[in-house]
Amino acid sequence: MATAVAPKSSSLPQIRQTECFIGGRWTPSSSGKTFDTYNPATEEVIAQVADGQADDIDAAVRAARKQFDGGEWSKMDARDRGKLLYKLADLIEAEIDELAALETLNNGKPIRDSRAADLPLTIDCLRYYAGYADKIHGQTIPVRGNYFTYTRREPVGVVGQIIPWNFPMLMVAWKWGPALAAGCTIVMKPAEQTPLTCLRMARLAQKAGIPDGVINVVPGFGPTAGAPLVKHPGVDKIAFTGSTEVGRIIMRDAAQTMKRVTLELGGKSPNIVFDDADLDAAVAGAHFGLYFNQGQCCCAGSRLFVHDKLHDRFVDKIVSLNKTRKLGNPLDPATEQGPQVNKEQFDKILGYIESGKKEGASLLSGGNRFGTRGFFIEPTLFTGVQDEMTIAREEIFGPVMSILKFKDLDEIAARANNTTYGLAAAVWTRDIAKAHALAAKLRAGTVWINCYDVFDAAAPFGGFKMSGLGRELGEAALASYTEHKTVTVAL
Ligand code: NAI
Ligand code: MG
Repeated sequence: MATAVAPKSSSLPQIRQTECFIGGRWTPSSSGKTFDTYNPATEEVIAQVADGQADDIDAAVRAARKQFDGGEWSKMDARDRGKLLYKLADLIEAEIDELAALETLNNGKPIRDSRAADLPLTIDCLRYYAGYADKIHGQTIPVRGNYFTYTRREPVGVVGQIIPWNFPMLMVAWKWGPALAAGCTIVMKPAEQTPLTCLRMARLAQKAGIPDGVINVVPGFGPTAGAPLVKHPGVDKIAFTGSTEVGRIIMRDAAQTMKRVTLELGGKSPNIVFDDADLDAAVAGAHFGLYFNQGQCCCAGSRLFVHDKLHDRFVDKIVSLNKTRKLGNPLDPATEQGPQVNKEQFDKILGYIESGKKEGASLLSGGNRFGTRGFFIEPTLFTGVQDEMTIAREEIFGPVMSILKFKDLDEIAARANNTTYGLAAAVWTRDIAKAHALAAKLRAGTVWINCYDVFDAAAPFGGFKMSGLGRELGEAALASYTEHKTVTVAL
């Protein structure tokens, strides 16, 4: 087995921003503390980043409040806000190669994915919301009696945004886009594993002319920087993406000050392949839907239900795709799979692989570490997986596919819905009536038919059940960054 190759230093991007960005100034943490950030492909430290604390969060919230409560931002014409968002998207596009490399360096995702997915989606999302800034308006409402009633949609205020490490830049765009279009101001805490591209985006926002204090970034850890942000009385809303476990803590911590909360959490999404599906399309879609981004996707198709009649041919094709999958240096454009983000995730995934073996699933490919350096895990496939096994119930967040067999339409909706999660689902069939019938029955925020992982800035995304609260993207996200105000005038 080949060893993962260390990236050549000549191809490494510059790391320029490592401090807190508060009120337009770069400042060390008030405590003076820093934390190491890594390249997960080599396990080497690549930078020391300011370890933000409650004091830094407080300073950032004050800066955001000042802009919101009467600063330049609060008075700016909505169309000009939109222009600044377009400018930010343009500046990101101008540095697309450097930003893609920085994302790959800090997260480990293959450069071909950063370049083809993360960066274009980030730019597209910002432009989508830029166009919305001057199109947010209320209604005039006929009421009983001699009154004139209208509604205004006002920005919700200062928003705290806490994001994970699996799509670092894209999560920034999903959060900043609707917040800025709506006229909110922001304190963001990026994930401790991947702070670098978020900090670079803050620099580009300043360069674009977004007034200082509108966007503030405080890198740091969950309990010491995230929690004070959630509890801060100067914050009006929290938008969070991450684990269901922390989502629960955030809902509780936000209750004290009655903050608005949107949560995009974990999943255990069913991907259902019927015997009348286009086999090659379903294999390719299921493979992508699970192994993309090293399996580190909240919507990963991690319960793959394959019809009994198709099962064996389907499995053979997945095994052969796994055999030729190219793992290695994520900065190499030929690489298809990089390392997991850190040792914690790497160990957790290997633990799930052990549990799959112990509970009696058949390991048909992978199952081991790849190489000796970096957090690489072979693309792994289990068949004979039963609904009650741990690997069929818990979110693995790694390159581990579990195939479950099914026979008829009546049983599959109930089995697919038998989970605490409800983020996404997919159906593969040539029978359009069957596809729509099942789409209506599945308890999930997104259903893909004959495709997987199709995202668009305009299409709402979020979870049923314990996969979250509220929606990101589209008009739905914009609505969650505004308050409705009803104004009634006696005539
Ligand atoms: P996490 O939920 O702990 O971290 C996500 C973000 O929340 C980070 O910025 C973190 O610093 C922050 N955070 C943690 N504790 C907090 C607290 N008490 N108050 C405020 N903020 C807090 O996720 P983690 O530990 O990185 O990954 C654990 C598991 O979560 C993964 O194995 C995966 O199953 C799931 N996950 C799901 C994601 C999704 O896209 N829905 C993204 C990342 C992880
Ligand atoms: Mg955690």
